[in-house]
Amino acid sequence: MDAVVTSRRTLNEYTSGVLKSDPEFDGLEYVLAAIADGAQKVQAQVQGAALAGALGSDGQTNVQGEVVQFLDTYASDTFVEVLKDSGYVAAISCEEIDNTVIVGNGLDQRFIIQMDPLDGSSNIDVAVSIGSIFGIWKRRKGGPVTDADLLRPGDEQVAAVYVVYGSSTVMVLATEDGVQGFTMDPEDRDFRLTHADIRIPADNSVYSVNEGNFYKWDDATQRAVVSLREAFSLRYVGSLVADFHRNLLKGGIFLYPGDRSNPQGKLRLMYEANPLAYIAERAGGAASSGSRRILDIQPEGLHQRIPLIIGNRDVVESTLSIMSGVYDTDGE
Ligand code: AHG
Ligand code: MN
Ligand code: MN
Repeated sequence: MDAVVTSRRTLNEYTSGVLKSDPEFDGLEYVLAAIADGAQKVQAQVQGAALAGALGSDGQTNVQGEVVQFLDTYASDTFVEVLKDSGYVAAISCEEIDNTVIVGNGLDQRFIIQMDPLDGSSNIDVAVSIGSIFGIWKRRKGGPVTDADLLRPGDEQVAAVYVVYGSSTVMVLATEDGVQGFTMDPEDRDFRLTHADIRIPADNSVYSVNEGNFYKWDDATQRAVVSLREAFSLRYVGSLVADFHRNLLKGGIFLYPGDRSNPQGKLRLMYEANPLAYIAERAGGAASSGSRRILDIQPEGLHQRIPLIIGNRDVVESTLSIMSGVYDTDGE
């Protein structure tokens, strides 16, 4: 789809226009404004990190067992702070934090955020696009947040957002109103609507997978990737958000399958697969673990990993048929 510069509406103008009309989303505009505020801060820090000596690792290891980059911690701290200050968030789960941050259960604190504050960390030091990913949930009625509020199928999200810090900084928002893309204006650093009503194009050109893992996959996965090689070009950035964003706008499929050493793959269900699956489906696409529709999966743990096959619906379904997976589009 071509980037349509539509009336240059700001994010706030869009959300107060569209979301305000539905009491179900009352307050969501403040959460989205907080995410935009945090993204502006993270974008500035990412741009200048090398000059501020903020590249590389701070020597810690996170709950994933991964080395933490300075910017992972900066992004995590920044988004926790702005989301807390919004006044509408009850709890925040985060890739970089072992346990959920419980903010409060005041009347207005009606949203729960599950986030990957900085995605594509291996690309930070080499100036390649990275991103931030957010799943947004409504807190169940009454009482403090419990595991029952956090470990729910992705179908129960009310919105999902990612930000890609690339040649431009784009915030993509999905609600039941559809998928909208907002580009940060370098003049005033506000986010303006540039990609209205995004739909994944039917004409695909790209498949995205780490071919270096080929010999770790099972036979069915190898057959599926060979069939994609024959049909498409390979584009793989190594930042999920950048690979997904390109495929969302241009068409294509992204896969991070399980393999012999990691049967559940590498990506996390709650703050990578679920938000992007929500966005993909609202743009007419599909997302599967290889055996289940992502948004149907009942989570067992906050940081659980899941294989991910996501993108244009037809290509996902044909890939799954080779993987002898089942993609029950309607989640039956
Ligand atoms: P994160 O930086 O949040 O840990 O995510 C990194 C993920 C994802 O962005 C990307 O698709 C994947 O790691 C790349 O993994 P490989 O380097 O194994 O291909
Ligand atoms: Mn990630
Ligand atoms: Mn991350």
